Amino acid sequence: MPDYRRKAAREAMSCRVDFNGMMSEALGETGIPRVEIEALEPRIKEVSRNLEAQRAAGEIGFYSLPTQKDSVAEIKELAAELRTESDTLVVLGIGGSSLGTKTLIGALETDRRVIVTDNVDPWRFGKLLDEIDLSRTTFNVISKSGETAETMSQFLIVRDLLLRTFGGVDYTKHVVITTDAESGALRQVVHDEGFRSLPIPAGVGGRFSVLTAVGLLPAAFAGVRIDDLLAGAAWMDQRCREADVWHNPGHMLGTCLYLADTRHRQNVVVLMPYSDRLQYLSGWFAQLWAESLGKDETVDGAQVNVGQTPVTAVGATDQHSLLQLFAEGPIDKVVIMLRVDDHGRDMQIPSGYADLESLSYLGGTAMGTLINLEQRATELALVKKKRPVITLVTPQVDAFTVGQLFFLFEVAVVFAGGLYRINPFNQPGVEESKRLTYGQMGRKGFEEKRAEVEAWTKRKREQYVL
Ligand code: PA5
Repeated sequence: MPDYRRKAAREAMSCRVDFNGMMSEALGETGIPRVEIEALEPRIKEVSRNLEAQRAAGEIGFYSLPTQKDSVAEIKELAAELRTESDTLVVLGIGGSSLGTKTLIGALETDRRVIVTDNVDPWRFGKLLDEIDLSRTTFNVISKSGETAETMSQFLIVRDLLLRTFGGVDYTKHVVITTDAESGALRQVVHDEGFRSLPIPAGVGGRFSVLTAVGLLPAAFAGVRIDDLLAGAAWMDQRCREADVWHNPGHMLGTCLYLADTRHRQNVVVLMPYSDRLQYLSGWFAQLWAESLGKDETVDGAQVNVGQTPVTAVGATDQHSLLQLFAEGPIDKVVIMLRVDDHGRDMQIPSGYADLESLSYLGGTAMGTLINLEQRATELALVKKKRPVITLVTPQVDAFTVGQLFFLFEVAVVFAGGLYRINPFNQPGVEESKRLTYGQMGRKGFEEKRAEVEAWTKRKREQYVL
């Protein structure tokens, strides 16, 4: 296909971000005045330059994922092999090692079963192991650090079950490990026991890893066209390198959410896809936004407490639940509505009950039209109430558009991190709870943590337990 045709096809399949519902022209004083963004432009340019420099120096790993080549070939080859051996892939992983895969599998057409089991809920995990046919199942253990307690405990249970079922030689055929290329306990296990494995590139943290083997292997196993996913991400990347913020969807998204939070006290961000297929994107986004931006220290060491609280919602379902709060509660939220132009199939609503006006108006409309009309109606209803809304429109839900959506939010969060002057790539706030768990589990070196938990448990007063 000639370049101009390819570009036109990509333009037609572009996800668009509509900021009208954020601006003061629509909202009055709860909106962002154009001049506020214009005044921030020197800082916006500085953040862009810094990110470009870090990117050029290879310091921000996720930027290079859309154009990876060798790793994709390796992933496809392994996926093809697994498809001949298994009907089901069970992903053992949590956080950044599971949420992207849940999104992919929930959103896209698949021809093989992928089950993502992230929690250590004994009831659900036990039931899953009771029900699957082990002989036609591969377990994909995914952990960048190779030592996350939840994933490792699942792995130990599965390994024990496989050993008992298939014996010491054959059991390894049912496990594939995705972990850091060099370090961690899981990498050691791969060396020692010879499991098949794929690396997670250095410099790509968990919540930015969906376009590595973390998300791509399960997706390829399920029959997803992973080249299209990466092409979508590459296309969004191209659009997000535009120098002018007014034409850069990722930088504009990061900027608007940053301004909403810091200048307009809108410190909650709701992602509300009007599509069941995209509902897991909200969970993935919530982790990305919360772990990347919720920080108590700037890169210069100043003490702060920043971050917007992400909330997950789904349209139209939550119009009958959360919308009342969004419309009349505190004006502390930005609602990002995600609209799908073409849902991939449609259902005509038949005519009926001609004599009942409250039912008969539904007949003759398609369900996909109804959900989109509801989205537009809710957008306007919120704007009329002076509630900030961003409308993200995707032409359809496929690998190309989902790749764009992942990349858009990744660029936006890193850009917002630059504006907040925090490091979006670490998550020190989640470490203490891990240490306190290790202490209670009797892990060596964490004895003090055990004592702390015991003291806290003792100090709690009976009178406050009702
Ligand atoms: O974004 C992150 O880094 C975290 O949420 C991790 O993905 C999560 O803690 C799981 O870590 P790991 O992949 O090391 O098991």
